[in-house]
Amino acid sequence: MKETLIKVKHLVKNYQSGHIVTKVLKNLTFDVYKGEFLSVIGPSGSGKSTLLYQLSLLDRPTSGSIHYGKLCVTDLGSKERTALRLNYLGYVFQEYALLPDLTAIENVMVPNIMRGFGKAVAREMAKAALEKLNVGHRLDNLPGQLSGGEQQRVSIARAIAHTPAILFADEPTANLDTVNSDQVMDAFLDLHYHGQTIVMVNHEQEYAKIGDRIMHLLDGSIERFEPSHHKKR
Ligand SMILES: Nc1ncnc2c1ncn2[C@@H]1O[C@H](COP(=O)(O)OP(=O)(O)O)[C@@H](O)[C@H]1O
Ligand SMILES: [Mg+2]
Repeated sequence: MKETLIKVKHLVKNYQSGHIVTKVLKNLTFDVYKGEFLSVIGPSGSGKSTLLYQLSLLDRPTSGSIHYGKLCVTDLGSKERTALRLNYLGYVFQEYALLPDLTAIENVMVPNIMRGFGKAVAREMAKAALEKLNVGHRLDNLPGQLSGGEQQRVSIARAIAHTPAILFADEPTANLDTVNSDQVMDAFLDLHYHGQTIVMVNHEQEYAKIGDRIMHLLDGSIERFEPSHHKKR
């Protein structure tokens, strides 16, 4: 039986500026299963990033609930949410968000140190994560000295160095050419193959197909779920 990792019920997100209310997420109800690779696609402005922000505790919904297992995370205070995000989740941004003055390994170490690991342990965890992402030969390079694909793989290493329960990614290949995109997608597939639960937003149908399931978002609503016909390795 499939185990539910995230349970989303009647999720609504409105943005308000002045008197103008923009309704972005309109009553979404769905589950994310443990070990699955869920792809989210939809036109620009359909609410993909907003959905990821709610699921990953970067933002709070207007109404509705999100449960991680039995824990209602929409009810938690800011401190608990931050701690949960740091220790339980991983997040990959479109534009890598690496610190430019730190080397690859330092970028991956920083969150581990924030998690309370000593420097030596944080370094070992970072090294192992970078090796897993095939950038173990780039430990001491600054982000500016790396290709886009390498920078994104460093940022994935940073997101998985603490073996998060859920890995989120928002259009992680949007800035990359085909060769680099393929390397990054291979990295996600490999993590998934080893059991990582992944929720990934994609702008390209081709890359969405690597998921187990594809959620089509349209104007803030779930248009449909599509099973993927991708063959697992
Ligand atoms: N902070 C905000 N304030 C007001 N409107 C916003 C804000 N963030 C996003 N939006 C609006 O919400 C809609 C969905 O945005 P987004 O989730 O970024 O879509 P997508 O990632 O699918 O392109 C867009 O119309 C966008 O303009
Ligand atoms: Mg977006």
